Formats: sequence, structure tokens, C-alpha cells
Amino acid sequence: MRTNIIIHGDCIDELKKIPAQAIDLIFADPPYNMQLKNPLYRPNNTKVDGVDDPWDKFDSFAEYDLFCTAWLTECRRILKDSGSIWVIGSYHNIFRIGNIMLNLGFWILNDVTWYKANPMPNFMGTRFTNATETLLWCSKSERCKKYTFNHKMMKRYNNDKQMTSVWKIGLCTGGERIKGADGKKAHSTQKPEELLKRVILSSTRKDDVVLDPFFGTGTTGTTAKKLGRKFIGIERDGDYVKIAQDRIDSVHTLWEEAGWIEEEQGRRTRVPFESLVKEKMIRAGDVLYARKDCGVTALVLENGTLQYKGVTGSIHKIGAMIQQTPFCNGWKFWYTVKNNRSRLIDELRDEYMQKHCGL
Ligand SMILES: C[S@@+](CC[C@H](N)C(=O)[O-])C[C@H]1O[C@@H](n2cnc3c(N)ncnc32)[C@H](O)[C@@H]1O
Repeated sequence: MRTNIIIHGDCIDELKKIPAQAIDLIFADPPYNMQLKNPLYRPNNTKVDGVDDPWDKFDSFAEYDLFCTAWLTECRRILKDSGSIWVIGSYHNIFRIGNIMLNLGFWILNDVTWYKANPMPNFMGTRFTNATETLLWCSKSERCKKYTFNHKMMKRYNNDKQMTSVWKIGLCTGGERIKGADGKKAHSTQKPEELLKRVILSSTRKDDVVLDPFFGTGTTGTTAKKLGRKFIGIERDGDYVKIAQDRIDSVHTLWEEAGWIEEEQGRRTRVPFESLVKEKMIRAGDVLYARKDCGVTALVLENGTLQYKGVTGSIHKIGAMIQQTPFCNGWKFWYTVKNNRSRLIDELRDEYMQKHCGL
């Protein structure tokens, strides 16, 4: 089976050509059937750039249900017994999809809420601002219990706290949002890479095959590539296929998290930063230097936390705060400088493990 490809075609036809039990993970962001009948306007009469694309329109709920039953049936067939599927939707469609999935035999593992940090307001003030979407994460059946869940990795990704099923992530904006030559959004529903990063990181292993039957701008393929996973995308619209291919071709470096599985395997013992302070490899009162020559320093405290501009927190939390990112691997962010020699604290952790854990 060819991987790292985008198939230009209808997903039901194309899914039928894929052998049974071939795919490790499916991420599906199908049409939501938003049923937007009239254009939306803001109070100042400017038009809201809503999802009114022809691909999102169905004549009836019955037609939508038939469509979803067809592609979900094929997805279940091609999924390995050890695989799992994520389907994202809004209140418009997710309950219908959940019902269809349960009837087909899928088993819900989590309903993850994507809490949008920057939702579009309800301009007319007729309802609450809709600030969430739902991701159903399912195994093939209740019997299929050997699905991948990288619990330790997700905990590490979440500053050493167990990750919950509520994910606060901004909409896809700024440099990540793909624009056309006219400066307008190239696709109305491009998903943020952070969302796909959590999906793929949590439920695949390196080299696993991730399939997305509604590929759009290729967020799934882009993220899979950055995490060292393989992908298959299916998309009906030729313009989106081209956008997605260009986007994926422009990825040349892996995300740091791509190597975490191997690291976890080699490093079964977790070492808290505090252990290095107790061992006096780093002392309370020492200064740590942030990477990328950003000129930032933080003070090491007795209990293994850092103090920066009056805020106290773990090496990960303070690193994330400085970079203004949701997460940071502090081990690869902070340096010590002794006798004019700078060393990443991750190297000191390795030394600690060699001494105490025989690794
Ligand atoms: C909600 S968008 C996916 C957006 C994507 N997740 C991203 O981040 O760019 C759904 C996509 O599915 C495509 N699509 C709709 N019906 C399809 C079908 N039957 N087969 C293949 N693609 C389809 C649309 O063209 C659209 O690009």
C-alpha cells in the first residue's frame, strides 16, 4: 500500500480500494452539514465569512446520514483491530455521527472537547457564543482493547500532568492559516496543527499510517510528517489537493516530539528536575539560561522549581510561558553555564540516569 500520498477523489470510492485492516489511525473532519440558509451579517452590516461551501451542503438529514454511514463503514473495515478513529464535528452533526458510529459497532473511548480560545462571537446576540467542537475518539469495537494510547507521552506533553478531555486551543489563524493570492482564506475550515498534534501524538507510534478521508488543506498529513508518521489523504477538490501537497512538501524538519517514543523506550524511569538539585548537579540559587539566545534567565529554587519575573513553576511551565506556547519540554530548553561551558540540562539528566538508573 502506497503511503505519504494524497488521493484526488471521492472518499467513499477511494476507501473501498484500500485493503481491510491496513490503517493504524483515521482522523476525519467531514462536512458538518451546517445548514446555513442565509448569509450572516455583523451588526455593522459586514458579511461573516461562514462555512457556506457547496461541499458542506446536503438536501436532507437522511441524505447526510446515508453519506456518513457509507464512509464510516469503509473506515471501520480498513482500520486495524489495534487502530482507532477520531471524528470531529460541531453540535450540527456530532450527535448524528455518534449515533451512526455506535450503531456500526465503534466503541467510544473519549469525547474530547476542543475549547476554542478565540471563538467567533454570536454577532446577533441570539444565543451563547459557540466556543466548542467535539472529537469522538473510538476503537473498532468494545472487544478491541489493544489500541495505542501514549499516556506517558501526553502527560509529559502536558507539563507532567495527566491530560484531560478538554483541550484549549486557538482557531487556526496568523501564519499557519493558508491564504490565496487574493489574501482570503484558502479553505474555510482549516484546523489548527496543535489539535492534530495531540490526536496523532496520543494515538499512534512512529511510522504508523494515518488516513484522513477529508484532507482539505492537509493539516493531518502535515502534522503526521512533522511527527514522523506516514499518511494517506483523500480529497475531492483538486485545488485543495494542490494546496495540501505544497504545504506538506514545505515540511523539512520534524517536531521534537517525533522522537519521544524512542526516548520513552530508552528511558523508562522519569527523573524530576528536583533530583538534580538534590544531587547538587544544579544548585539552588543557580541561574539557568533559555535557549535561542533570547537572553532570558531564571533562578533555580530549592524545591526544583524556577523563578522568573516573580512567577514560580516547573522547568516546562516557565519555558512555555517565556515562549508563549502551550507546552515546552524544559529539559531541552534550559542551559547551565559553568566555567564558560554551557550544557543543556537534558545532558545532566542523562548523567544522573547513568549513575542512578544504570541507563
Ligand atoms: C471540513 S473540511 C476538512 C478540513 C481539513 N481538516 C483541514 O484542516 O484543512 C472537509 C473537506 O472534505 C472534502 N470533501 C467533502 N466531501 C468529500 C468526499 N465525498 N470525498 C472526499 N473529500 C470530500 C471537502 O472538499 C473539504 O475540503
